[in-house]
Amino acid sequence: VTTTLYRNARIFTPVDNGKPAAGKNQAKITSWENGALLVKNGQIAAVGDDADVRAQTVSHPPDQEVDLGGRCVIPGFVDPHTHMCFAERREAEFEQRIAGTPYMEILARGGGILSSVRSIRAADEDALFAMTLRTVRTAMALGTTTVEIKSGYGLDTTIELKMLRVIARVAEAVPADVVPTFLGAHAIPQEFRENSDAFVDLVVSEMLPAVAEQGIARFCDVFCETGVFSIEQTRRILSAAKEVGLAVKLHADEVNDLGGAGLAAELSAVSADHLLASSPENLARMAEAGVVANLLPATAYSLRKPYARARDMIAAGVPVALATDCNPGSSYTESMPFVVGLSVMAMHLTPAEALTAATLNAAYALKLSDRVGSLDAEKQADFLVLDGESPAILAYHAGVSPVVGIFKGGKKIAGNLE
Ligand code: NIG
Ligand code: FE
Repeated sequence: VTTTLYRNARIFTPVDNGKPAAGKNQAKITSWENGALLVKNGQIAAVGDDADVRAQTVSHPPDQEVDLGGRCVIPGFVDPHTHMCFAERREAEFEQRIAGTPYMEILARGGGILSSVRSIRAADEDALFAMTLRTVRTAMALGTTTVEIKSGYGLDTTIELKMLRVIARVAEAVPADVVPTFLGAHAIPQEFRENSDAFVDLVVSEMLPAVAEQGIARFCDVFCETGVFSIEQTRRILSAAKEVGLAVKLHADEVNDLGGAGLAAELSAVSADHLLASSPENLARMAEAGVVANLLPATAYSLRKPYARARDMIAAGVPVALATDCNPGSSYTESMPFVVGLSVMAMHLTPAEALTAATLNAAYALKLSDRVGSLDAEKQADFLVLDGESPAILAYHAGVSPVVGIFKGGKKIAGNLE
């Protein structure tokens, strides 16, 4: 048994009340000016004011003490929506987009997601593993200690299973928690262009049973959008996913309001993601059903779209989470500090609300709140040391990561902290 006392820290953590933090609770942060964190066997044994934590160590003094020099400590970031398993970047496409070609038009012409499908189908499994590992390590160095990764660039059973295998290998290779999601319905492959229902049949009758049998994926996701999967098709796929035991989430109302947010409420999805175009009525239904709104401001940034109306969502009682959406097309960033900064500056979250969104509510969006997302006794000791006085540093020190220490299960996994 090794115990470590991290002391001389300004600690900030959201409050876990057993459900995602919504409305005013989104801004509820507990903090200690002269805080201490006691870690035992990779778990948090105690957290709080230095004197209170020390009082608990009188009979068992810690094996070691680490002075954090008055720096700020927050829970490790949970990134609950990424497409980090890809074979190639799409830099030329980015240049087309900033010159004015819309994202969905590039996809309609057979580029975008479909160009990632071509490169991943051609990629050797080891090369795909190496590329994915590199992307995940970049995320970890920026403070991500738990990350979701979707399949979805295979669009056929063999390659979707290959992607999930690669994601599982990455999970074994890194100390971060990696959560695999099956996104077979990410685009209509060119072979099915004229008959998208036949592709939906394939997802439901061939891919989903194979994915369930493989046993790696924990969630099923669908890109519900004009020109991609309709509400009816999305409902069909996600209902079938629930039947094989997967929890569900969806890319909802990213470009057009098809009613994806309402469908998320109807299906008791764990989260609905993007929500740039959702109607107030459907957001109210999400609040009612306790569906987490997973917001991806780096995508609005990269697509030059208006940001999701996070303030309205919080006012409506929808719990808000944040994610990078890291992918080679609509949002190429691994950086949760960037996403938190954007959420404060462009979506007007307070730093406290943004902290909850990037940790606790993100953990709920992955059904992992029992282990991660806040600094509470008995959760994993996943925490970050920031070079700053408060979480506001994430927005204030723009374009730079203030994350200097990254700890997962009590072990330092990245960062330049001594
Ligand atoms: O969340 N919208 C669909 N999927 C991703 C983009 C994937 C890609 O362009 O490769 C998204 O934005
Ligand atoms: Fe996405």
